[in-house]
Amino acid sequence: MTRHFLDIHRLEAAELRAILDDAHARKAARKGWPRGRVDADAPAKDRVLAMIFEKNSTRTRFSFDAAIRQLGGDSIIANAGDMQLGRGEPVEDTARVLSRMVDAVMIRANSHEDVERFARVATVPVVNGLTDRSHPCQILADIMTIEEQRGPIEGKTIAWIGDGNNVCHSFMHAAPKLGFHLNVACPAEYHPDLHDLAKGGNAVTLTSDPKDAVRGADVVVTDTWVSMGDGDYEARLHAFENYTVDEALMDLADPDAVFLHCLPAHRGEEVTDAVIDGPRSLVWDEAENRIHAQKAVLAWCFAGD
Ligand code: CP
Ligand code: NVA
Repeated sequence: MTRHFLDIHRLEAAELRAILDDAHARKAARKGWPRGRVDADAPAKDRVLAMIFEKNSTRTRFSFDAAIRQLGGDSIIANAGDMQLGRGEPVEDTARVLSRMVDAVMIRANSHEDVERFARVATVPVVNGLTDRSHPCQILADIMTIEEQRGPIEGKTIAWIGDGNNVCHSFMHAAPKLGFHLNVACPAEYHPDLHDLAKGGNAVTLTSDPKDAVRGADVVVTDTWVSMGDGDYEARLHAFENYTVDEALMDLADPDAVFLHCLPAHRGEEVTDAVIDGPRSLVWDEAENRIHAQKAVLAWCFAGD
């Protein structure tokens, strides 16, 4: 069966663990050098990954492109607005055509439902490169980064501070699968989607107080207060004004706590310079790990053929 990577909650816990282990192994095999040669097993040899972007991207775009090359394959990248998709060609017809031309498709879409529609028709693997609903590739890189610095994720406590957004949802999906606890602190009007919250079950605690969320946490994570596609910028700045991750907030976490942010960051809003540029920040490792994590995702997809 075609292996799509659409959301963490769709994976078996063992599959998720295997993808993370493969990401660690692929990184280790490079001995600290993220760029360059093709991996020995070249699981994407003679394969082409198409990437479709409806929204801006730096990390996802470049890391997937680097990733497919390191797996021995090649890429084709298009902005949706330059495709016939942008003139109203149905998602399903696009999926049928690309399935005849390439070996996998990564999509960054405004609407999660469009990625689901694409995957229902595609006969090649489809990877979610961020939607309004979730960002599963990102949290793989985040968990990988935590494990590199602090050991297995199982039993850890992660504090999510700010918007109950797409990245937060993917963390909630992962928590019960990997056995970590997620404390989510957000203003009531920007809480996570309740269906996604339910997928986290007992592994997720919701609060409106950032201090409650970070107390004793092993990891503190935040993200922009205004995601791509959000229109209510002023209202959000006001609602989130007590949710900045600063040194005082970090000091309430475990003394060894680390800081993560998927980037791009808005310094002075969701995080201060002192935290993101400080000794507890792992954001550059986190960004690099997008390559390694996505290689593991693509290798998993191709292994299903
Ligand atoms: N973190 C992330 O997905 O970054 P980009 O929007 O630059 O791809
Ligand atoms: N929540 C952010 C993540 C960007 C990588 C957004 O959707 O804009």
